[in-house]
Amino acid sequence: MTRTQALHGSIPRLLALLAALCLPMAPATAEDDPGARIAGEGNDRGATACIQCHGAQGQGQGQPPFPRLAGLPEAYLVEQMKAYREGLRPNATMAQIAQHLDDDEIGAVSRHYAEMEPAGGPYRVPDELVEKGREIALEGIPDRNVQSCASCHGEHGRERNPGLPPLAGHPPRYLMAQLQAYAHGVRETSLAGLMEGIIQEMEEDEMAAVSAYFASLSARED
Ligand code: HEC
Ligand code: HEC
Repeated sequence: MTRTQALHGSIPRLLALLAALCLPMAPATAEDDPGARIAGEGNDRGATACIQCHGAQGQGQGQPPFPRLAGLPEAYLVEQMKAYREGLRPNATMAQIAQHLDDDEIGAVSRHYAEMEPAGGPYRVPDELVEKGREIALEGIPDRNVQSCASCHGEHGRERNPGLPPLAGHPPRYLMAQLQAYAHGVRETSLAGLMEGIIQEMEEDEMAAVSAYFASLSARED
């Protein structure tokens, strides 16, 4: 038997061995995905499991308002978590949690949610608010130079760029609270200035209307 023949003969055995070695490698579970583990169980240094508030599918909930996380862009999630940790985005609940996560954990849990199927909404909101909100979202308020929300966030609020969050499927009260935070300049993330300029030109009832519009849309692309 030549060396080449010997080698050929051993290939099937090699393949069988490889197959056997590969078998236990089931799809990623919470055991081997640190991001999924943090989402489902938190960590042993005091960070609470994210699913307790943000839902098993990362879909969020309406009352009390918890935003969806599923399908938000990874870079956006990382920045928001660090902003909570450092107080650039003031929120007692999220600050408490983010302070117990290191950079690697923030990276892992952000990747986990960014890779999930978008989920969240639609929420039930009064029709007349949705109508008025749709107009502002799609056309802006030309008299006051308010740009349409759709030009950045997409017509259905599903645009996903690294620093640009989709808005569809968030609870209406969550969206409203964020618009108020921009209006008062308390959210100091790197791109918050873009929103501040827009929101300062808007009345409270217009903010409530656009919040209702985006909450009335499903996060899912169907
Ligand atoms: C006790 C409830 C609770 C738990 C547990 C929780 N969150 Fe939150 N989360 C909130 C609330 C409330 C907000 C809205 C805060 C605000 O208004 O800025 C929020 C907001 C967020 C946001 C901002 C979303 C956006 O669209 O900008 C991110 C990101 C986030 N949470 C990630 C996490 C992660 C990751 C975990 C787990 C490590 C977690 N949260 C656990 C309550 C919770
Ligand atoms: C020029 C682009 C641009 C336009 C136009 C724009 N946005 Fe934004 N929006 C952004 C960016 C960028 C962010 C992320 C800022 C940050 O990191 O805090 C954002 C964030 C938001 C958030 C916070 C989302 C979250 O998950 O916490 C809301 C709510 C929002 N925008 C609503 C609106 C509404 C309503 C309009 C129209 C009236 C609008 N935006 C128009 C760029 C834009």
